[in-house]
Amino acid sequence: MRSLLGFAVASAVVAARNLLTSAAAAALPSSRLLIGYASWAQCDDKVIQAVEEGVNVVIWFSIDLAVNETTGRPEVFVRPDLDCIAEKAAILKEKGLETTHLISIGGWNSPHPDTSNTAKDVYLEFDRWNREDVARGGFGGFDGIDWDVEGNDDLSSPFNELTAACIKLMGEMSQLAKRDGYITIRVSPSQLVVGLICDEVIDSDRMLYLSPKQVVEADKALTRADISVRGYGYWNMQCDGVNTGVRLSAGLNAFLHTRKGVKGQSGSSWRRTGKGLLDL
Ligand SMILES: *[C@@H]1O[C@H](CO)[C@@H](O)[C@H](O)[C@H]1NC(C)=O
Repeated sequence: MRSLLGFAVASAVVAARNLLTSAAAAALPSSRLLIGYASWAQCDDKVIQAVEEGVNVVIWFSIDLAVNETTGRPEVFVRPDLDCIAEKAAILKEKGLETTHLISIGGWNSPHPDTSNTAKDVYLEFDRWNREDVARGGFGGFDGIDWDVEGNDDLSSPFNELTAACIKLMGEMSQLAKRDGYITIRVSPSQLVVGLICDEVIDSDRMLYLSPKQVVEADKALTRADISVRGYGYWNMQCDGVNTGVRLSAGLNAFLHTRKGVKGQSGSSWRRTGKGLLDL
């Protein structure tokens, strides 16, 4: 289980498409952001549904920046099925649902980025992997990365410690990405995306679940205080709505207006119809 704290500290480095590739420049949606995390290796129609209901940035989950034991060279360890991601991305494109696709690096219990190679070599391998191995069909590869370097259930794991070498690698790799046309960003409130968690943890004493209704109240309060955050994101599109039937995708869209033509009031229940979502 991923921790809410981990979610909150995960920082997104968002990329415009590498300018050296022929693909069109990618960017974040200009509107407010509704970010949905895929669960571990999740690639299914729940992602399509979440995007139809409001999500405009999908964070696929996840990869590790690993090292090949034989060659000692950087290597990307991949969890989700890349054919499936390309297929879902194509479906979203066909439906006219503009979506930014990020790939998360890390996750709870995952090894931290390997630091035995230089940041430049790690970045070059990531970039090569993204352009040559990930891109296929109409999918141009991921638009950027989400740093999600977290902790470990095993208290003796070395990955409960965030080393200076690891932070340095992340920083330098982000700088190299920026040089290639990626954006590394100073996080002002207008760039901040607040992390939420699905209602699977509604009774947890460790994690705080906020319903869309509570989020809209908080958002109004922030706006009244002249602090408008860029958007909201949630972990994850698989568990969203499992306990209450109230989905963060549609519930947040009700006030973020990230997708048009989706009806649903925050806090209410809704059901699917042939025409979309109806309030109950
Ligand atoms: C490591 O590199 C070797 C030599 O290039 C290659 O044959 C092998 O498949 C790589 N290992 C993994 C796990 O990719």
